[in-house]
Amino acid sequence: MCGIVGYIGDRNAIPILLEGLKRLEYRGYDSAGIAFYENGGIVVKKTVGKLSNLESKINGHEYRSTIGIGHTRWATHGRPTETNAHPHCDCSGRVVVVHNGIIENHALLRDALTSEGHVFSSQTDTEVVSHLIEKYLVEGKDLRDAVLRALGEIKGTFALAVISNLSPDRMVVARRSSPLVIGCGRGEYFVASDVTPLLRYTRDVIFLDDNEVAVLDKKGLEVFDVESGCRKQKSTYHVTWDADLAEKNGYPHFMLKEIHEQPQAIRNTWSGITLVNGKDGLEWRDLNLSRDEILNLSRIYLVACGTSWHASLIGKFMIESLARIPVEVDLASEFRYRSPLIDKRTLTIGITQSGETADTLGAMRKAKAEGSKVLTICNVVESSATREADGVIYTHAGPEIGVASTKAFTSQLVALYMFALFLGRVRGLVSDILFCKFISELKSIPESIERVIERESEIENLANLYWERKNFLFLGRGVTYPVALEGALKLKEISYIHAEGYAGGEMKHGPIALIDEDMVVVALVPRNSIYEKMLGNVEEVKAREGTVIALTTLGDRYLRSKVDHVFYVPKSNDLLTPILYAVPLQLLAYYIARNRGCDIDQPRNLAKSVTVE
Ligand code: F6R
Repeated sequence: MCGIVGYIGDRNAIPILLEGLKRLEYRGYDSAGIAFYENGGIVVKKTVGKLSNLESKINGHEYRSTIGIGHTRWATHGRPTETNAHPHCDCSGRVVVVHNGIIENHALLRDALTSEGHVFSSQTDTEVVSHLIEKYLVEGKDLRDAVLRALGEIKGTFALAVISNLSPDRMVVARRSSPLVIGCGRGEYFVASDVTPLLRYTRDVIFLDDNEVAVLDKKGLEVFDVESGCRKQKSTYHVTWDADLAEKNGYPHFMLKEIHEQPQAIRNTWSGITLVNGKDGLEWRDLNLSRDEILNLSRIYLVACGTSWHASLIGKFMIESLARIPVEVDLASEFRYRSPLIDKRTLTIGITQSGETADTLGAMRKAKAEGSKVLTICNVVESSATREADGVIYTHAGPEIGVASTKAFTSQLVALYMFALFLGRVRGLVSDILFCKFISELKSIPESIERVIERESEIENLANLYWERKNFLFLGRGVTYPVALEGALKLKEISYIHAEGYAGGEMKHGPIALIDEDMVVVALVPRNSIYEKMLGNVEEVKAREGTVIALTTLGDRYLRSKVDHVFYVPKSNDLLTPILYAVPLQLLAYYIARNRGCDIDQPRNLAKSVTVE
């Protein structure tokens, strides 16, 4: 976790670094800092807390520099203090480093460097990198060679940017498992953890691959392999998506903007999927999964974390019912440390908005190493997951900035639905007529979401009634059970209210003991084959004086008399109900968090991409 930026060119680096860090604040925001070269020395400025604190510290000074690096932190080693904030210096203050990732052997390296006389000032793992580079620079190497030698001793993951006043006209950057992108301008380079901060300056970018080091100066850029030191050729990628997409567009929060963007986001998801009629029937262009592989599949693993894991739980319903292939859903952090049964007939799909979640990447790598074909359903083009997987399904939801995932979740559900339909079709289980019916049902979903959002004020009123409650229970059954989990996760992560998601049928096995007049129960009761079962659960809550907010299908007349509040959701095909039921739950969490004055887009202790274990 953490975001890094860098600039080298003719402009003043300081505003570019600060602007870049603003765009990366979603990656971590417990402290921030910048370092730049000025008057023959390196100046370092850092603060605890949000970037605005750093800006206040710098405002009023006339700093000017044409080379600098910056960092916004989410603590892993060492508390979030000013001393632990990046950039980190060597003993002499001549080398500065910003780092995203984890140096696994930092303790050993620290002991060795200390015994050689190096003095450490922070508790971070990163500081060993500055001292190692110092050690090799002192031995007369240039900055590139010193960084290469230092990296040779480091175990773990990193995206790094390094400058030194001994080499004031160059910056060295490197990557292993943590993302790093270089924006190429005329006589200038921009560096960042993702593409967003670069777009206001350039659309031509280079994605560094693992174990690559790049040396940047105003005249050009050279890339080397960390291990061999050999030069590498890299191609430039032209980014086409619009930087405005990443702005708030008048909404008070990114989360609200992203909730409202869902109709368009999911239209984009299916539009980005190219299904064609090939010689053997339906083909999915770019999926890299042959008809024979599909026919031979024995099992599919869906691996993911958090909200993407909830999407996977729904994906299991979709794939098992449309394609009749057994699906196992695993938390990526569990999958990577157990012994799943994998062979050549297994398909593993990593589902990840960011494509950088360390546990999901770890699970995908494990599956691949054991012989599984690996796909990813991912939102971020050229992210690590997409580059490591054998095939990619992009969700095309556009950049998601709010830490709480909303449009990425519903677009993952659309991608999973399309994939399940495709598998079912190839396996001869979904006829032409059914396929067209299922697709047309999918195509009605954006409009149904718009109908839900039009009645947003009803949800806001519910939030106004219940925002001070301390406990919420979300109940669902079947395909809406994972939506109950997701509703609870949304509420707890942005409003800090204790909330749990439960399968309705499990109530009597424990959670019913929690029900009293203080408990708010949000019950998902679509009119489907288990409607009556959910009604039974609602009655159980009412009999114990709990407050019930029920979400049910438009046209239902029965529930209104049984519960405290009803929110009506347009009718849909059962497998698509999770998309429609997720939206009011996102809005409920949003308005409750707003009433409680919470930092909605950047909840405490959380970051958008969890790039560490
Ligand atoms: C919750 C949320 C997280 C992410 C999880 C996985 O709102 O956003 O639970 O879903 O950290 O992230 P990705 O999908 O980027 O792998």
